[in-house]
Amino acid sequence: MLFGTQTINSKGHLEIGGCDTAELAAQFGTPLYVMDEDLIRSNCRDYIKSFRSKYPNSKIAFAGKAFLTAAMTSILRQEGMYLDVVSAGEIHTAVKGGFPTERIYFHGNFKSASELKIALQAGVGRIVVDNMQELELLSALAAEAGKTADILFRLTPGIDPHTHKLIRTGQADTKFGLNIKDGSAMAAVTRAQELPGIHLTGIHCHVGSQCLETDAHTTAVGIMVEFAVEVYRKLGITFDEINTGGGLGISYPHDQVPPTIDEFASKIADAYTHAMETLGLPNRPTLVQEPGRSIIGTAGTTLYTVGTVKTVPITEAPGRRTYVAVDGGMSDNPRPALYGAVYEAHVANNMNRAEGEAVTISGKHCETDILISDATMPKLIPGDILAVKCTGAYNYSMSSNYNRFTKPAVVLVSGGRAELIVKRETLDDLVRQDVVPDHLKR
Ligand code: LLP
Repeated sequence: MLFGTQTINSKGHLEIGGCDTAELAAQFGTPLYVMDEDLIRSNCRDYIKSFRSKYPNSKIAFAGKAFLTAAMTSILRQEGMYLDVVSAGEIHTAVKGGFPTERIYFHGNFKSASELKIALQAGVGRIVVDNMQELELLSALAAEAGKTADILFRLTPGIDPHTHKLIRTGQADTKFGLNIKDGSAMAAVTRAQELPGIHLTGIHCHVGSQCLETDAHTTAVGIMVEFAVEVYRKLGITFDEINTGGGLGISYPHDQVPPTIDEFASKIADAYTHAMETLGLPNRPTLVQEPGRSIIGTAGTTLYTVGTVKTVPITEAPGRRTYVAVDGGMSDNPRPALYGAVYEAHVANNMNRAEGEAVTISGKHCETDILISDATMPKLIPGDILAVKCTGAYNYSMSSNYNRFTKPAVVLVSGGRAELIVKRETLDDLVRQDVVPDHLKR
């Protein structure tokens, strides 16, 4: 399956954004993250249009944890998106990129005092408060700065979505948020009314990520509205907005088929409207959605150069396994190791080569860093450019310098133009922060 502007050109090469990926590899080197600007923009537009057509009072915030650079924040600004951040570093990136800070939602289960001060100072629009200690701290800091913080509470709806256990967050047993059922959420709403420097604007939840079904989301929407009704009945307060997080999955291997953005919007908006009507909510709060992966995931492709190819005996069965090593791996994509994530790839410099036998694509780290296991691929030879698809979300953002590898460059492609948005790290970048104390210099 090809995504966005991906196509095969007359040379039989994979082209993205009108750029020949074999030429990109030659120009910028590998590993290289290639981001399809048109697809990022059209996904943003689809989200805004789909949600607004079903529930006009909707806002879409991009979850910056999936992929954030200064250039990305500029695209988001131009597309009229809001932004979800989780650290001082993400706030700083948004500020550097000229993103309007009043459109930022600041999340996290442990925001330090210094991060909260940075957020207040930068004029971050909404702080999504996770717990009581944070509420008290934020109140003190805001009052001290002579400001009022507009907040939402992160709530735990008590729902377990069908996704990898490390990316489930809606269930009761989670480090995130205030539990609704045990009364913690109501206690926080009550306390927020008493505290200076705090203006409660709404509630937030996020049930999990890479969800291929919408049941967990629609159930959570109902629980959130039910809580809003309970708050209204008990305290006479209404919320301005209800934020139901992100979580829509993407098609990593072709047999994983998520709902489209439009189908997802219909399900969420219908559940929201239905719950408000049947449960009798007196107002109609803004609906906020926070997609990360489904905006940026399919827009990213990682290009690698094939290095060595070897076959080894298989221990558990007769036959031999072919290992193809590429010039990146766990440091630019930790997701197979962390979540057992499955990827698909093409031979970018020869898209028409006939399929060969199953191969296992490995990285070059001192680890068994398998990127793709037992994939039927065309025969790969050293020097080929391998394009691993759907690497836009949580790849660059989770990359590391493991084994002192330099982080790859990121290029943004559109209409035949390729522009660097993150420079490749140099060997000197790797030692820039190293300090050798005097006593070790002798
Ligand atoms: N909002 C909140 C509060 C979140 O915690 C997340 C993701 C999102 C929105 C966006 O979710 P998305 O639409 O991208 O599913 N590193 C993992 C994913 C962790 C997701 C964390 N939170 C991975 O590589 O699969």
